[in-house]
Amino acid sequence: MGMFSKELGIDLGTMFTRIAEDGVVILEEPSVVSVDIDRQIMVALGREAQGMIGRVDAEQMQVTRILQHGVVAFYEYTEKFLEALVKRIGGGMGFLRMRPNLMITHPFGITSVERRAVQEAALSVGDARLVPQPVAAALGVDLPIGTPSGNMIVLLGAGASQAAVIAMHTIVSGETLRIGGLDLDEAIVTYVRRKYGLIIGLPTAEQVKLRIGAAIPLDEELSIDIQGQDQVSGLPKPLTLTTGEIVEAVEDTLDQIFETVRRVLEKTQPELASDIIDRGIALCGGAALLRGMDKLMTQNLGVPVYLVDNPLSCVAEGACRAHGMYDLLNRNLPQI
Ligand SMILES: Nc1ncnc2c1ncn2[C@@H]1O[C@H](COP(=O)(O)OP(=O)(O)OP(=O)(O)O)[C@@H](O)[C@H]1O
Ligand SMILES: [Mg+2]
Repeated sequence: MGMFSKELGIDLGTMFTRIAEDGVVILEEPSVVSVDIDRQIMVALGREAQGMIGRVDAEQMQVTRILQHGVVAFYEYTEKFLEALVKRIGGGMGFLRMRPNLMITHPFGITSVERRAVQEAALSVGDARLVPQPVAAALGVDLPIGTPSGNMIVLLGAGASQAAVIAMHTIVSGETLRIGGLDLDEAIVTYVRRKYGLIIGLPTAEQVKLRIGAAIPLDEELSIDIQGQDQVSGLPKPLTLTTGEIVEAVEDTLDQIFETVRRVLEKTQPELASDIIDRGIALCGGAALLRGMDKLMTQNLGVPVYLVDNPLSCVAEGACRAHGMYDLLNRNLPQI
């Protein structure tokens, strides 16, 4: 590590990209770009690009997420996006010429082609190395992953849900399901269409989820008034939704997520599993913030599940810490 090298941890997510320096998140931007269709160039990114959704001529400007389900979908724009963010942190081109050291995270279990796409997109910015998100998250919440004991982490993002058991710095069992918070929003859209014949957009569905949503019924039901569009007449129509309805709407999607977590637990060796039962499962990622998620998961799995203190920032923060232990993290132990 040279005197001028700068180490960053980057959590490139389906909805948000977070960059940490010295173990603290210093930048968070939506992973969104606006592209001028005729000229095929990126004209805005992050919050600015997101603000253009529905406000620009769709024939002229394409506003799009650069990742889908945690995986790079638009390689070239991901490269430009990372370049712009890192440049901003460094306060100009000089920083890029210095080539910072980047630790970039990716979902566990993606293909080598998908991994290479993330790494190469970052190479124009600096020296890029990779760490799987569950490992970064575990480092970010201070789990003792260097010990032989079993540590389990569940990371629920916008586009993917990951469950992993980590011991001796290695994922001994893990799975990634390409379903996340965005699919909960989709489930709410579908529910409202089926039950009320009304069409609502995904951003509205997300607002409903954030404001009144829950994984289990609440002691005090919340409600929200929204506007939908009648499927038949096309006219706007008001609608009141309650927490109980959202619980019902997201039930099946949550079941799929829990099944994945259960499978990972089931294929964990008994000694490690007993550690996990003692210590509990660490829950993180934005979708983990859905009300009652930890409680429902605890009921569903029969193993204590607890929400960590830094569910949104732990991946980027842990990626920073991974810089100093890259060799340890990359010993090749057999995987299950
Ligand atoms: N309080 C909350 N209640 C319910 N859901 C929430 C809450 N806060 C954030 N979310 C959801 O969390 C998701 C974003 O989480 P996060 O930032 O971890 O995703 P990401 O890292 O961009 O995606 P991924 O890791 O899947 O690539 C969104 O679906 C958002 O709606
Ligand atoms: Mg994420």
